[in-house]
Amino acid sequence: MTPITNIDACVFDAYGTLFDFNSAAHGARDELGDAWQPLSDLWRQKQLQYTWLRGLGAHYADFWQVTGDALDFALATLKLNRPGLRNRLMALYLELDCYPEVPKVLGELKAAGLRLAILSNGSMPMLSAVVRRNGLEDLFDAVLSVEEVRTFKPHPSVYRLAPSRLGLEPEHICFLSSNAWDAFSAKAFGCRVLWCNRFGQQPEGIPALPDAEIETLAALPSHLGLGTGRS
Ligand code: LAC
Repeated sequence: MTPITNIDACVFDAYGTLFDFNSAAHGARDELGDAWQPLSDLWRQKQLQYTWLRGLGAHYADFWQVTGDALDFALATLKLNRPGLRNRLMALYLELDCYPEVPKVLGELKAAGLRLAILSNGSMPMLSAVVRRNGLEDLFDAVLSVEEVRTFKPHPSVYRLAPSRLGLEPEHICFLSSNAWDAFSAKAFGCRVLWCNRFGQQPEGIPALPDAEIETLAALPSHLGLGTGRS
């Protein structure tokens, strides 16, 4: 493994990378039973599709609305019409768990002097809620939401928020995403990219290839040469 060098900041995608979007439907498994996973899968797929469709069609609405619209579609498709279920699931989306390795890895990066940020489709209230919920608020130098540019990933204006707000060149930023399309698109924009391929996805057929692939964020510090003489 060749370490990624000359990095001043790590910028993280939120959903699927730091925070487990499956933990919302999983949290309502007492009502959903075995349907929790198909619901979670369809909810996520539709949520992403709606960001792309709204982005391409120039019909921006914030991620809270998109997430609710996607949930309505998924509940209707799976014929899950219990009263109160929609509101419960939306509330759970504000309480997502982070992945287990996240607090320790962020602490290590911070202690090594790296700046840390989130760059997400999420609206600020959604992102603030999950950051606070997981006790991560002191670790991030910036939480950047697409709200500022009123479109969604992978529009380049979204990725541009990171270098512009951190005052860094894109090649001095290491972007992390478990969403392959997001990782590939950040690389096409010009960041260094580690694709955190938690879900064992196949590489995408879009520009451009991330610098390397890791299975969880636990492998991130060593990819930056931390503990082995980072340059
Ligand atoms: C985000 C989605 C893409 O946090 O996971 O931007």
